[in-house]
Amino acid sequence: MVIKEERVLHMVGGGGETSYAANSRHQEKAIYRTKPILETAIAEMYRRTPLPERMVVVDLGCSWGPNTFLVVSEVLGIVGDLCRRLEQKPPEIQFFLNDLPGNDFNNVFRSLERYEKKMEEEKGDQLVPHYVVGVPGSFYGRLFPCNTVHFFHSNFSLMWLSQVPQGLESEQGVPVNKGNIYIAENSPPQVVKAYQEQHRRDFSTFLKSRYVELSIGGGMVLTFLGRRNKHPANDELSYLYGLLAEALNTMVSQGIISEDKVDTFNLPIYGASMQEAKSVIEEEGSFDVEKAESFESSWDPFDDSDNVLNGKNVASTLQAVMEPLISHHFGDATPHALFSLVADNITARHLLKDKCYYTVLVFALRRKA
Ligand SMILES: C[S@@+](CC[C@H](N)C(=O)[O-])C[C@H]1O[C@@H](n2cnc3c(N)ncnc32)[C@H](O)[C@@H]1O
Repeated sequence: MVIKEERVLHMVGGGGETSYAANSRHQEKAIYRTKPILETAIAEMYRRTPLPERMVVVDLGCSWGPNTFLVVSEVLGIVGDLCRRLEQKPPEIQFFLNDLPGNDFNNVFRSLERYEKKMEEEKGDQLVPHYVVGVPGSFYGRLFPCNTVHFFHSNFSLMWLSQVPQGLESEQGVPVNKGNIYIAENSPPQVVKAYQEQHRRDFSTFLKSRYVELSIGGGMVLTFLGRRNKHPANDELSYLYGLLAEALNTMVSQGIISEDKVDTFNLPIYGASMQEAKSVIEEEGSFDVEKAESFESSWDPFDDSDNVLNGKNVASTLQAVMEPLISHHFGDATPHALFSLVADNITARHLLKDKCYYTVLVFALRRKA
């Protein structure tokens, strides 16, 4: 069953200034950064199992915009190169692009023809034959028949939970996570526990579903936001969402939104530590870990050197991802004012201070036989 946040969740559409397509450089950088891991994982899969004539590859949480097709072309390039090295005929690849039903799949398929044309011009007869199909639905459940998928890929999607954790509602009229929208330093322990349990349940359900869908020898590469520190409240993700909460609370003090609205809003996101993610994989038991690593990425996606953070860049990437959730809860008028406040706060606080980083976790997993 699709539950509330999954119905509402989608990235900002179109190609305008605040769209996801124009503000997905973080995610793009992660796709380039993890390409060697994807190459090794696909080569390993080919080493373990005979080459399939038809290969099924799925991108989970594909969204829309340039990154959707970047993943497709990386996989085609990797499989094409591998087959040339092995002097084998390439398989036909069936791509399934998955996201929640609110995703702008029309946008994806409207761009497909242009993308295909460009690929044909660039690759000519070296282009691996392929077919692209959309699959709306939550990856926290079954999406495909048993044993039909050879490879799953997912970039920057698995930090989204299937729902806001249960137990964050008011207790005897008092909001449990008052003034916060994520785990904060002053959140009571039950908030941390609720987030951790929701993450454990969701990630475990995800792994169980993928295990059934993968064919023997299949694998996946999963890249998602995590955290570096042991306690979730001491991390930069908690700090960033704290700045978002602070801007919402400023809007409460200005009489723009009600306090009650902030007290009843919590993000359906969790940044797991490497240890937590590994322990869910081990306990669930269906996958061997071929690779587990993490890297850091500046909050500012355009900061490729040692420059200081640009608050507007940071706020724009947050807005492209969170605006639909914020509008749904606080009303359509909120995001514009909110994210300008966030941009100002980040610029003011960090102009002369160290940069802040997202921690990104990457796993290459192999289905156990
Ligand atoms: C930040 S975007 C990443 C998009 C793309 N993979 C990229 O690298 O640019 C996260 C995507 O995950 C999708 N998503 C979140 N929860 C999901 C779920 N339970 N099932 C399927 N997709 C989900 C969102 O709708 C969103 O499009």
